[in-house]
Amino acid sequence: MKKLILTPLLTFLLIVFLASFTFQKQNSDKNEKTAGITMVSNEFPENVAKILKVHCNDCHVSTSKSDKAKKKLSFDKWNDLNMLKKTGKLNDIIEVVKEGEMPPEKYLNHYPDKKLTEEQTKTLVKWAEETMDSFKE
Ligand code: HEC
Repeated sequence: MKKLILTPLLTFLLIVFLASFTFQKQNSDKNEKTAGITMVSNEFPENVAKILKVHCNDCHVSTSKSDKAKKKLSFDKWNDLNMLKKTGKLNDIIEVVKEGEMPPEKYLNHYPDKKLTEEQTKTLVKWAEETMDSFKE
């Protein structure tokens, strides 16, 4: 009789325990993701923000050690640019990623996994073109 009550009870407790554990993990994953994106700027769609964060923001944020890179483009200051300036930068971005000029070759020699895949290049180009189109509306 005792055993009959105990087994379902233990099973129930185990399920509650596991469920809360999984839920917590999912939550912390989510927080981490959001933190990364707000660091870039809230103006980028998630798939773009992810690429910028990993592949560009070692250099293109206002806290970067590379003065040249951050002067040209700081993705965390994107919202400070007016439409005209954004358009200029978006055209530059399309050019450099299509030509494979960014991330710079020297850097890729040290960090080969930072090279953009064809898919990521397409994502950035598409975003840049669509953003410029949206300015015309
Ligand atoms: C290792 C550092 C580094 C990384 C990573 C990097 N850049 Fe750059 N980027 C630079 C530097 C340095 C310059 C300035 C080059 C110059 O003035 O000659 C630059 C310039 C640029 C420019 C301006 C080009 C122009 O014609 O004026 C654009 C646009 C750009 N980067 C986009 C990107 C994008 C997009 C990524 C990510 C896919 C990226 N960069 C990753 C260092 C970097």
